[in-house]
Amino acid sequence: MTVAVVGATGAVGREMVAVLEQRRFPVGELRLLASVRSGGRTLTAFGRDHEIRPAEASSFDGVDVALFSAGSETARVLGPVARDKGALVIDNSSAFRMEPDCPLVVPELNGDDLKGHRGIIANPNCSAILLCMAVAPLHRAAGLERIVACTYQAVSGAGARAMDELRRQEEAERTGQPLEHSVFPKVIAHNVIPWVTGILPDGYSVEESKLRDETRRILGLPHLPLTATCVRVPVFRAHSQAIHAAFLRAISPEDALALYANAPGVRALAEGLPTPREVAGTDDVVVGRVRVDRAFSPGLALWCVMDQLRKGAALNAVQIAERLVRS
Ligand code: A2P
Repeated sequence: MTVAVVGATGAVGREMVAVLEQRRFPVGELRLLASVRSGGRTLTAFGRDHEIRPAEASSFDGVDVALFSAGSETARVLGPVARDKGALVIDNSSAFRMEPDCPLVVPELNGDDLKGHRGIIANPNCSAILLCMAVAPLHRAAGLERIVACTYQAVSGAGARAMDELRRQEEAERTGQPLEHSVFPKVIAHNVIPWVTGILPDGYSVEESKLRDETRRILGLPHLPLTATCVRVPVFRAHSQAIHAAFLRAISPEDALALYANAPGVRALAEGLPTPREVAGTDDVVVGRVRVDRAFSPGLALWCVMDQLRKGAALNAVQIAERLVRS
């Protein structure tokens, strides 16, 4: 099978290549694509060096699966081109996520939505994947009534340049140099920023709106009341979320732990504190501090952590490809 990764030099793109390799996806030919800036560079994958080529229409000739993580603009231009050339396109940007024709899928939760797809599948926003994986098993048992979520998002969610910005600021702090920023609107080192990808006219950030809209779509609850505050924190990898969920029917922390025991892709801890340091590089959504909510009744409060480059992006995309290639 010929597989293209568009955005192969980026934080998610590199992880996509690693996940393909680790999960032994049946890759015959691998095409690593990026912008013209990266043309000529090489990356090692599947035991050999691959030249990075600029992504253009002809790059998709003969491609079976194209995994995109190169931003919305590139996806809007090249996604349909790849699809028209016969590739199955799985796009990690927000370009197609709310298009009714493009399924928005977390395979463990709504994999059936892939049926009847038209060649472009949207990979959800990482915070939406985390939230849905954490609440879906509880929703099936007790019926979600509303959600309040606060996110603590790692810098790698904003791409490779954002990781460099945090590294440079940490170094500047150590050596007494001025701290400069361009990716984020404030210095992120030793700080937290209540801003994830821009503020909309209603005062909510783009991320807060994606989290609401995509969660509603994935869970099939178009009117679910959901409010969020999304915050960037100086963590390199793995997003965390504090989730407060109200339910229609009674559900206890013990019930929740029993439900999670049968939820693929979720690992719930009866005790202990999941943090990004331990969860980074792993595949499961880890849920901890499951307790009775003090504001919602019946309700639960949860603390959840997930490597957003893996389950929140690359792994979820490859799982979608696996499902479609198998069927
Ligand atoms: P490049 O490294 O050549 O700029 P991240 O989200 O980590 O910032 O990564 C974004 C990815 O998208 C990178 O691999 C980047 O490639 C790629 N990219 C950006 N613009 C384009 C474009 N116009 N065509 C193809 N790939 C692009």
